[in-house]
Amino acid sequence: MTPTEPEKKKFSFSTALVLAVVLLVVLLTCVPYLVTIALAEGPAPANASPIFGVTIPAGYKQWELIAPAEEAAPLDELRAVLGNQTAVDAYQAGKLPFPDGTILVKRAWKRKQSPEFASATIPGAATTVQVMVKDSKKYASTGGWGFGRFIDGKPVDEAQHRTCWGCHEARARSRDYVFTRLAP
Ligand code: HEC
Repeated sequence: MTPTEPEKKKFSFSTALVLAVVLLVVLLTCVPYLVTIALAEGPAPANASPIFGVTIPAGYKQWELIAPAEEAAPLDELRAVLGNQTAVDAYQAGKLPFPDGTILVKRAWKRKQSPEFASATIPGAATTVQVMVKDSKKYASTGGWGFGRFIDGKPVDEAQHRTCWGCHEARARSRDYVFTRLAP
């Protein structure tokens, strides 16, 4: 036994330990990326809009009101734009552009005369639910917004979804492509 032998063994053990730790760190670092890739390339969820893969967010009927709106003929609709907490916070802070995670939902109903009071207009049958989701990376080519229009919970066709960005881009560019202002 030469005097250098035990030291050699010690060295190789600690080298192996360091390598193992490095390997573990590398693996752990990769996990979030692997999960992201798996999710991004997974199948689109059922009832997601074409092009954008936007779905109707759970619990949106309980969200806060941003503003009501009315649409003249031929649509003759009453509308309400609702926002999730991220949207509400951004609106209240007057923050533009809207941060990632902002979701706006526009509910719409046929205008109906109140059966009890002739001059009152009330919501009739629900027509569409429209959704805008902010994700500046995923939707980089459409101002950071993903769009979805739904009738009876089902997304409408791709042709309709091709129209969303053009109009919002042309008319609401200075307001991060969002028309609706917080109702006073
Ligand atoms: C021809 C113009 C036009 C097109 C096309 C259009 N929108 Fe809009 N959108 C508007 C206007 C105007 C408003 C605000 C008035 C209102 O609420 O009706 C609006 C409001 C919205 C809102 C509420 C947030 C905001 O910007 O005020 C959502 C959500 C929305 N649209 C989604 C969609 C989706 C999804 C599509 C495509 C399927 C679409 N829009 C296509 C004009 C358009």
